[in-house]
Amino acid sequence: MHKMLYIIWSDKNKLDIPIIDEQHRGIISTINSLHYFIQIGHGAEILTPTLTMLAQYTKIHFKTEEALLAKAKYPAIEEHCALHKTLIEKIEKLSIEVSRDRDAGRVLIFLREWWLNHINKEDSKYVLFIRKYERS
Ligand SMILES: [Fe+2]
Repeated sequence: MHKMLYIIWSDKNKLDIPIIDEQHRGIISTINSLHYFIQIGHGAEILTPTLTMLAQYTKIHFKTEEALLAKAKYPAIEEHCALHKTLIEKIEKLSIEVSRDRDAGRVLIFLREWWLNHINKEDSKYVLFIRKYERS
């Protein structure tokens, strides 16, 4: 039987900034892989490698995004970077907690909510500034 994808990536999640969309897809794909392992009953054992990988890739992604925001002189850059910093800290906290409770479902729900909200609500706010910068 085919397993359901947890997050279906669609054009409405795209910001039309190719490198950012590509990296967002990578993050969503990692979240979907975690979901797959939960579905086949191996969520607990994949949890730590998933969070380790996600923490590293998220840092690369935030570095990319923050450099773009700085170049485009995005006025709300500080608030945006603060959201990023909070997530990195939360992932580090989760990594310690899951080494005890192995609760993959909780991690999955948190990651899904955080990323969909961040991409669709927070990241979408800077798109116009990046476009304006790219045209100038
Ligand atoms: Fe962001």
